[in-house]
Amino acid sequence: MPTPAWLQNPWKQNPWFESVAVAQRRARKRLPAPVYGALVAGSERGQTVADNQAAFAELGFAPHVAGHRAQRCMATTVMGQEVSLPVLISPTGVQAVHPDGEVAVARAAAARGTVMGLSNFASKPVEEVVAACPSTFFQMYWTGDRDVMVQRMERARAAGAKGLIATLDWSFSMGRDWGSPEIPEKVDLATMVRMAPQVIGKPMWLASFLRSGGIPDLTAPNLAPPGGPAPTFFGAYYEWMTTPPPSWEDVEWMRRQWGGPFMLKGVCRVDDAKRAVDAGVTAISVSNHGGNNLDGTPAAIRMVKPIADAVGGQVEVVMDGGIRRGSDVVKALALGARAVLIGRAYLWGLAANGQAGVENVLDVLRSGIDSALLGLGVSDIRELAPGHLIVPDGFHRVLGVQAPLMTEKVELPGPA
Ligand SMILES: Cc1cc2nc3c(=O)[nH]c(=O)nc-3n(C[C@H](O)[C@H](O)[C@H](O)COP(=O)(O)O)c2cc1C
Repeated sequence: MPTPAWLQNPWKQNPWFESVAVAQRRARKRLPAPVYGALVAGSERGQTVADNQAAFAELGFAPHVAGHRAQRCMATTVMGQEVSLPVLISPTGVQAVHPDGEVAVARAAAARGTVMGLSNFASKPVEEVVAACPSTFFQMYWTGDRDVMVQRMERARAAGAKGLIATLDWSFSMGRDWGSPEIPEKVDLATMVRMAPQVIGKPMWLASFLRSGGIPDLTAPNLAPPGGPAPTFFGAYYEWMTTPPPSWEDVEWMRRQWGGPFMLKGVCRVDDAKRAVDAGVTAISVSNHGGNNLDGTPAAIRMVKPIADAVGGQVEVVMDGGIRRGSDVVKALALGARAVLIGRAYLWGLAANGQAGVENVLDVLRSGIDSALLGLGVSDIRELAPGHLIVPDGFHRVLGVQAPLMTEKVELPGPA
């Protein structure tokens, strides 16, 4: 028999949240400071991570008062996978948010009819994640030698991953003005004692890990050699740092080796987008790694239209960075994106309430997309166009079209 309402704990918080901002506040409360700090991240002074969100607020709507559409459709496909809303899970290599980690995220993605992007730095093996969400794209950095990369691709393919995301926008930029969170090399007794003050004040987080069998081990199981142990997060990062950076030929090689739907994530420039087309990719994600790559890169949404105009007829153009509400998704689609990927939004949902929290985030975004379509009098996301938005002058950033700056000799005026 269900507990009558008058007998339920009146202090227990309703786990449902109405916005991503509320999920973020709950995540901050629940997570140990270093874990929360790793989610917020953003390199150097945080200019790019701030612009990713601020730029969406520069775009406006002009809603109709009547003549709205009763039926509104937001289903689409991305790299051959059907999605019930134009929002996919972006791969995030982040540990210790929730004991069920990426498996909980994958279950939520499957329950809400979308694609799971799984990072090669994730805490759960690709086999478990694909079992939870058959529409999974596996993400790889350019790390290790070619034999190692082939072996990792084969493992993901054998597990049933439906696509590969190659993320190449990483410059190993160190140092954040607000301080980087401490990530221990391994979780042993000494580490536990040292970090105890940060964890003791987070009893719900601690209890959830203890209930599921222990504290997080901070390893990357998808980077393990066949039959071997998973490397530590730092071991994996060292391999990545010491791998020579990829060329465009390497991108094409990776695409051929995978042999299926292939997304290049991290494209900012029109010239790079065109080279990606030449390399034979299926899709590109216009992205600045959520503000974690070179600080000073413009907000991803500022770069979408120029890139979609240039290559949108040849490859699928998606974007990620700064999506916090359904109206942000509609803005990105109106500027030419086919769909968006979300990072922090679902991580906060995961921290706040596990699988249900990720579902909650996807539901919040779905209902926000629906409201925006209703207000704009649009019945299908495919109808969205720039004319549906109020776009201020100078909003877009067209990168990589003119000759690179600083190649021309500039005559400086002499002293007056
Ligand atoms: C904590 C964290 C870890 C991330 N790890 C990865 C990763 O392993 N692979 C990857 O391709 N992108 C990674 N990203 C970038 C996301 O996939 C995505 O581009 C970014 O989060 C989008 O911005 P948003 O967080 O504002 O939605 C990470 C982002 C964050 C915040």
